[in-house]
Amino acid sequence: STRTLFLLPGDGIGPEAMAEVVKIIDHMNTDAAAGFVTDTGLVGGSAYDAHGAAISDADMAKAMAADAVLFGAVGGPKWDDVPYEARPEAGLLRLRKDMQLFANLRPAICYPALSAASSLKPELVEGLDILIVRELTGGVYFGEPKEIIDLGNGQKRGIDTQVYDTYEIERIAGVAFELARTRSNRVCSMEKRNVMKSGVLWNQVVTATHKDKYSDVQLDHMLADAGGMQLVRQPKQFDVIVTDNLFGDMLSDVASMLTGSLGMLPSASLGAPDATTGKRKAMYEPVHGSAPDIAGRGIANPIAMIASFAMCLRYSFNMIAEANRLEKAIANVLDQGIRTGDIMAPGARQVGTTEMGDAILAE
Ligand code: NAI
Ligand code: MG
Repeated sequence: STRTLFLLPGDGIGPEAMAEVVKIIDHMNTDAAAGFVTDTGLVGGSAYDAHGAAISDADMAKAMAADAVLFGAVGGPKWDDVPYEARPEAGLLRLRKDMQLFANLRPAICYPALSAASSLKPELVEGLDILIVRELTGGVYFGEPKEIIDLGNGQKRGIDTQVYDTYEIERIAGVAFELARTRSNRVCSMEKRNVMKSGVLWNQVVTATHKDKYSDVQLDHMLADAGGMQLVRQPKQFDVIVTDNLFGDMLSDVASMLTGSLGMLPSASLGAPDATTGKRKAMYEPVHGSAPDIAGRGIANPIAMIASFAMCLRYSFNMIAEANRLEKAIANVLDQGIRTGDIMAPGARQVGTTEMGDAILAE
C-alpha cells in the first residue's frame, strides 16, 4: 500500500525546513513497507510568481486527493503589494476552506532540555504535554452579519456574530474525545456560558456528546477566561482542551509561550472522515511563518516542521511507534545540547538547519 503526501514548502524558511522532513521521509522509505509517495507543489508568494495565484487549481486538486498535506510557511516582503485575493495567506485560507479543516490541533509540549527556556518557572512546564483542539471553520470569525454600519449620527457600529450549530460542536467534541483516548483520557471544554448563548449550547452539546459516545473519557468544563488563567498558573493540569475558534486562537497562543520558541511548535488541521473510506483530510504545518529575517541563511530551526510530520504519522497514518520515535529523536538531540540559534543556551552547540535535521535523523 502507498501513503501519498503532498508537500507545499511555500516561501522563506518553509522550503529550508521542508528539506529536513524530506530527508526523514526518504530514510523511512528505505523500508519499502513505508510506501510514502510524495509530490510537491507551490503555495504563497512562490505560487503567485509562477501562476498569479496563491495556489493553482491543479495544486489544490492534488492537496484534496492526497492522504495528507505538509505545509511549510508563506509570505514575505516581496509580496506585500500583490492583489488582496492573491496574497500569500490566501493559499493557506483556500486549503483550509476547500479541505474543510474544522479541527486545529496545537500541542504544547515542553521538552525537558528546554524547560529552562520557557517564560515560566521550569517546574511548572517540565514534562508539559497538552493538546489544544480549536474549532477552525465556525464561530465569530465567520458568522453573519459581519459588517460596519453607519449609524448616521457620526457613529459607526462594528458587528461580528458568533454562531455555532449543533453539528459543528458535535464534530469538534468528537475529535477531542477521540484524541483524549490516545493520550491521558481527559478533556476540558472551555466556553463562556455565563455570558454567551453559543457558550450555553457549546456546553450542552459537548456534555451530550460525552454522555452518548465518550463517557469513558473524563470531561471537565471551564469558563474560557479562567482557563487562560489556569493555563499560565498550572498548565500540567490539562490533557486535551477543546474550545471555539476565537478562544482557541488566544488560548493556543498563550500555551505556545509555555514551551520556548516559535521554531518548536507543530500543528495539525483535520477535516471530517470521508463517507466511504473513513479517512480524514489533513494538513500539517509549523505554527511559525516564513521568517524573512533569517530566510536563506540556513539557520532556521526545522523542529516545528519535523514535529508536524510526527503528527502526520500519528494522525493520518496511525504510525504511532514511528511518531513516538521521531519525537524521542528530537528530545534526544536537544538533550545532547544541539541547538539552532533561536533556542541556543549557554554551553550548547549551535548548529544550522541541515545539521539539526541530520542530528535528528541520526537519532
Ligand atoms: P514568523 O513566524 O515568520 O517570525 C517571527 C520571528 O520568529 C522572526 O524573528 C523569525 O526569525 C523567528 N522564527 C520563526 N520561525 C523560526 C524558526 N523555525 N527558526 C528560527 N526562528 C524562527 O512571523 P512574522 O515575522 O510575523 O511573519 C513573517 C511572514 O510570515 C509574514 O509574511 C507573515 O504574513 C507570514 N506568516 C505566515 C504564516 C504561515 O505561513 N502559516 C504564519 C505566520 C506568519
Ligand atoms: Mg493566533
